[in-house]
Amino acid sequence: MKEQLEVLLADAVTALKQQNVVPSELEPRIQLDRPRDKSHGDFATNLALLLAKPAGMNPRALAEALLAALPANSLIAKADIAGPGFINFSISQDQLLQQLEHAYQDAHVGVQPAEQSKRCVVDYSSPNLAKEMHVGHLRSAIIGDAVVRTLEFIGHTVIRQNHVGDWGTQFGMLLAYMEELDDNAMELELSNLETFYKAAKKRFDESPEFANRARELVVSLQGGDAKCRALWQQFIDISLSHCQEVYDRLGVSLTRDDVMAESAYNDDLAQVIEDLKAQNLLVEDQGAMCVFLDEFKNKDGESLPVIVQKSGGGYLYATTDLAAVRYRQNELKGDHLIYFVDQRQGLHFQQIFTLAKKAGFARQNLQMDHYGFGTVMGKDGRPYKSRDGGVTKLADLLDEAEKRALELLQSKKSDLTAEEQAHIASVVGISSVKYADLSKNRNSDYIFDWDTMLSFEGNTAPYLLYAFTRVNSIFSKAGIEANAVQGDFILNDEKEVELANTLIRFNEVVHSVADKALPHFLCAYLFELAGAFSSFYEACPILNHDDAAVRASRLKLAALTAKTLRQGLALLGIQTLEKM
Ligand code: ARG
Repeated sequence: MKEQLEVLLADAVTALKQQNVVPSELEPRIQLDRPRDKSHGDFATNLALLLAKPAGMNPRALAEALLAALPANSLIAKADIAGPGFINFSISQDQLLQQLEHAYQDAHVGVQPAEQSKRCVVDYSSPNLAKEMHVGHLRSAIIGDAVVRTLEFIGHTVIRQNHVGDWGTQFGMLLAYMEELDDNAMELELSNLETFYKAAKKRFDESPEFANRARELVVSLQGGDAKCRALWQQFIDISLSHCQEVYDRLGVSLTRDDVMAESAYNDDLAQVIEDLKAQNLLVEDQGAMCVFLDEFKNKDGESLPVIVQKSGGGYLYATTDLAAVRYRQNELKGDHLIYFVDQRQGLHFQQIFTLAKKAGFARQNLQMDHYGFGTVMGKDGRPYKSRDGGVTKLADLLDEAEKRALELLQSKKSDLTAEEQAHIASVVGISSVKYADLSKNRNSDYIFDWDTMLSFEGNTAPYLLYAFTRVNSIFSKAGIEANAVQGDFILNDEKEVELANTLIRFNEVVHSVADKALPHFLCAYLFELAGAFSSFYEACPILNHDDAAVRASRLKLAALTAKTLRQGLALLGIQTLEKM
């Protein structure tokens, strides 16, 4: 609805340009706000105020001209000029009814496909395999997956890339430790990579011979020694299977096929250096090979280097990322490269994007975006730690989520079987962790707090899951299929209109999540929708209303609410429950 109105206004601006009322080079941003007070209509715009000055007209006169230039349409029921030159629009109820009916019938709940379908290469999760996944890996996986699902939903092709760190000096240490263990001990120790890493590190710090062996092994690994490679592969496989377990539990859609590890780029790294050299971009600095980009300076005004090769010949994180950009553009045929990585890597990505274009690894119009995120904090306001002060393994965190959810369910009286309770606890626990993350603006840090995330009040997973089961129960109680209600939408009560207006906003919200990679827009919307439904349900009896037509319309409003909640939660990677 908003989009349609925007198009109408854009057409009116074009018409005014043709009439030489407005300078033709002007490209005003068309903004449509939703007034809180509905007596000001459904949408308001300041467009006339923006155009008045360049047109040399009084804003109210320009507003008149805009309205006169609007194409004929059945969308706008009423348009008023207000104050200095704002225009308020009321949308016709016919349109609202049509859109409701369309969303009710449509498999995509009324969400339009993107104007242009793109190939999006999305780098997310991408943990370092030397250690087990921990709390710090939560955000990339959860936010990345929600955005990926949203992009696919509006018709983009997504190529997932799990750019796992499986290379580098730490692996020498791990391999040296593996060598010391017999098969049985190895299996046991590798079942917990966190303690395995710690034990190897301890050996490394304590024993110079061990440390030497570790360094030797890095050299043989990089030199392609077969035995060494096999041992390394064994470690990588185990570590990846730990990751896969976490993805499966979290409902993150990554699979083994999406793994494109850092090591996969090894063979291309020498070429990256060659190509940078051929472009005259390389500078030797204290033995290391660097590129200095004028775009990035320190506070003394000196250019910052991107180091691409160490003095010993080794390559770096940045070298691999340059190779990856090239691969994603040329082999994967990406139109848009997206990275969900901690915002502390912001400078790294800005440098990579700039350098990739400068070096011709990426075409000038390739769209590349780093979508950063803040840190998960403890209640003490410091990065979240486990009780013993160490990092919290994700697997343990998810165990605790399920356990707490189960205790919560058991504390309430219910007629669920133990088995049902366990299933519900698992869904509630995991979705609470995910939703707590998704519902915050990803650019900020957030405080990880079990009590708020598991609360049945507020913008939380339990609240929304419960709201969904409540809407759904109307249908099971009545023995009616939610998608097969006969009759039309009728909007009389104020609460019906409010709910309807909220329902048809789903399209716009989904698109804003896809455009800005901000899933919290969707969370805020679903929360608002659940609230609008509650107010409607309180004010408007459904099953015991005596008019069959009103009953049918209200059932359809409930059905569309359930459908929208289910689809919205699915885009966030959260499954709904039939009962709780
Ligand atoms: N493994 C890296 C880390 O844990 C993240 C990789 C992100 N992706 C990338 N293409 N650099 O910090």
